[in-house]
Amino acid sequence: MHENYINGEWVGTGETKRNLNPSDTRDVVGEYANADEVQASQAIDAANDALEVWSAWTSEARADALDRIGDRILADKERLGKMLAREEGKVLAESIGEVTRAGRVFKFFAGEAIRFGGEFIPSVRPGVSVEVSREPVGVVGIITPWNFPIAIPAWKIAPALAYGNSVVFKPADLVPGCAWELARIIDEVGGLPKGVFNLVMGPGSKVGNTLVTSQKVSAITFTGSSATGMSIAAECAARGAKFQLEMGGKNPLVVLDDADLELAVSTAINGAFFSTGQRCTSSSRLIVEKGIHDRFVDRMREATQALKVGNALHPNTDIGPVASQAQLDQDLRYIEEAKQAGCRLEAGGERLSLETPGYYLTPALFSQTRNEMPINQEEVFGPVATVIKANDYEHALALANDTVYGLSSGICTQSLAHAAHFKRHSSAGMVMVNLPTAGVDYHVPFGGRKGSSYGPREQGSYAKEFFTNVKTSYTLSQGG
Ligand code: UN1
Repeated sequence: MHENYINGEWVGTGETKRNLNPSDTRDVVGEYANADEVQASQAIDAANDALEVWSAWTSEARADALDRIGDRILADKERLGKMLAREEGKVLAESIGEVTRAGRVFKFFAGEAIRFGGEFIPSVRPGVSVEVSREPVGVVGIITPWNFPIAIPAWKIAPALAYGNSVVFKPADLVPGCAWELARIIDEVGGLPKGVFNLVMGPGSKVGNTLVTSQKVSAITFTGSSATGMSIAAECAARGAKFQLEMGGKNPLVVLDDADLELAVSTAINGAFFSTGQRCTSSSRLIVEKGIHDRFVDRMREATQALKVGNALHPNTDIGPVASQAQLDQDLRYIEEAKQAGCRLEAGGERLSLETPGYYLTPALFSQTRNEMPINQEEVFGPVATVIKANDYEHALALANDTVYGLSSGICTQSLAHAAHFKRHSSAGMVMVNLPTAGVDYHVPFGGRKGSSYGPREQGSYAKEFFTNVKTSYTLSQGG
């Protein structure tokens, strides 16, 4: 039984929840506490009470704590990667990569804790000086999705702590395992004052809702679905809390006639299907110029069919299972709708039965699709990609931007002029040239535009915009 971590103690709950392996649903990863509003409120109170002692810590002491946590994550990456692959279904190599990213994030923010500062600006008035400084926001509520069970928690928890906030962390219901392991590491090596970091596992309707509506929680950082994000936004706006939202994507990858065909295919395969397509940055729309279209579709069909779908823990698996029955049902529904709408299924889209019972689905590639179709406008969040034919570069750019989302976009081309134009005119927050739309660095800003994101950027030094409050202080010097 894996308990919640509140005020520096491990505490159980009446209810527990079973964590199952999507590659083999007979394999129980563990039993995890399933908290309600009462425990969530206790964690919020603990975080609030901890702020005072926490604020007495030097930046160097905070930096050392984050560095120790980062080191431990990196030292444990094989074991944690296995846990991640087992509970989420991401293949082992990608899982270990994600754990590595999480460790690096902690080490980056260890540096940030001592690097960040304010400004000293001359006043326009005689004898007066102006300081712009940054202060912690207070208690930060962290709500994370199931598709990156350790990296996303890391890139929200590490900056929250680096900039002096206390934390109540609610991981996705589906993947409490990595969250619990992360809490254990923070407990064992962090040496933080009790209450500075709290883990509360439980449903969004109880734990998430308590965080979002509590007057003691000053800020909410959320990654997940657009619908949940919008309701969090409404609650936070109503009570004047800060909020930061990372939501869906419908990310285009444009392939121009002058692209290197093999590079374009490997870029599309990675962006569309790796991590079973379960990334908000995945390349779900492949927008292909007409001169290369048929050759691209032929090569994509072959490359998609060559992907080996299987148990996430087996070393030769390319694509792991879908994470849950609910997600699988959604993927299959979209695949069926696209077929009904007349899209041509070039490859995959089939439920697979393997030796271990799991949510296996072969990656689906559709051609002959139109951008206005639901399959091209709504986020599927699975291994499903479509090809949309474009007449020329301008048409491809217009199609790429014709979406309510704006997280990530990509272009495959050898033309510097088109690459430069696309970087400037894509309506996404992140643009990739000859690279997959998914898979980002850990030290630079991450985030989107339009319906994909709200609020300041996550990651890199830009994270301080959300995790600190700016204060402007004026001082009249003596004799001024
Ligand atoms: C990545 O593509 O490297 O939930 C990260 C998601 C994003 C993270 C993507 N917030 O898929």
